[in-house]
Amino acid sequence: MTRMRAVVAERFGPPEVLRVAEVAVPEPSAGQVVVRVRAAGVNAIDWLTRAGLGVRVSRFPAILGWDMSGTVMACGSGVTGLREGDDVFGMLSFPALASCYAEYVAAPVTDVALKPSAIDHRQAAGAPMPAITAWQALFRHADLRAGQRVLIHGAAGGVGHIAAQLAHLTGAEVIATASARNRDFLIDLGVDQVVDYGLGPISELVSKVDVVVDSRGGADFLDLVNAVRPGGIVVTLKGEQPEYRAQLEAQQVRAGYVYVGPDPQALKAVAQHLADGAVRVAVDRALPLAQAAEAHKVGETDHVRGRIVLDVY
Ligand SMILES: NC(=O)c1ccc[n+]([C@@H]2O[C@H](COP(=O)([O-])OP(=O)(O)OC[C@H]3O[C@@H](n4cnc5c(N)ncnc54)[C@H](OP(=O)(O)O)[C@@H]3O)[C@@H](O)[C@H]2O)c1
Repeated sequence: MTRMRAVVAERFGPPEVLRVAEVAVPEPSAGQVVVRVRAAGVNAIDWLTRAGLGVRVSRFPAILGWDMSGTVMACGSGVTGLREGDDVFGMLSFPALASCYAEYVAAPVTDVALKPSAIDHRQAAGAPMPAITAWQALFRHADLRAGQRVLIHGAAGGVGHIAAQLAHLTGAEVIATASARNRDFLIDLGVDQVVDYGLGPISELVSKVDVVVDSRGGADFLDLVNAVRPGGIVVTLKGEQPEYRAQLEAQQVRAGYVYVGPDPQALKAVAQHLADGAVRVAVDRALPLAQAAEAHKVGETDHVRGRIVLDVY
């Protein structure tokens, strides 16, 4: 097999720039495995990058997609611990282009873990970037501990619903913001209190929080600072806003900025929780690979519950 189907972006632009094409099957370089992709996760960075607002793309046509689950078909030199036929999942090469919207992908062996047999390829493809991001926010930036009060802002989304479960597992009291329709979904995942973000500024509805995970940024970030006790921390996924530094200092609130990157330790820990059933991945919907543009359109409505995935094979 030398040719494969992939979804390529011809240029930056609207979802319509995505089209199915025939391209060469990748060969594994040293330290890589080639994976037959069963399902690919669709993350916000995918549609941001397609629109020219995400990571750097130096060459077109470009194949998007960083998260996948599939089966190892070939191993490059120096690969140990994996062999042909193993089912693996992972977030590949981020922030370099990884090209998971394709039938085959070359994956650095350090970026994949064995797929837990308890979950299917769709669930596994929906997990890596959301889970690694949530892990880095809660444990690398906030050092979350049992008994702390944590607020997950935007908890029904890909990152948020995993962060809520990881925080619950840690023994924290978990407060989550979402629209009213996601209340039962989040309670079922172990959230203690769901706050409808439509009812007013969050800081008027929640207070004295130790840790916030902010998936929204902008003016929400400042509002969230007001919900934190002195000494607490707001970890945002939306980058630093230097104009808020003085406010943070005045209120003795720390800030953490997640820029997700490969994290084998986090991926392994999450794989164990997925295997145990302690963390579940909500698949909002699965669409065929050829409908990647539709997946982006749905994602851009900003109300996906959990993760959208593409069925590849
Ligand atoms: N810095 C990093 O390394 C990093 C890594 C991953 C993601 N991110 C960024 O983090 C953000 C979240 O990622 P994601 O994958 O979780 O996104 P997502 O799955 O697309 O988020 C969708 C969710 O946002 C919720 N939402 C919409 N408006 C809201 C509001 N005003 N207040 C609270 N929640 C609201 C929706 O819940 P309802 O339907 O209930 O409204 C929906 O479930 C994205 O902007 C992404 O680009 C950054």
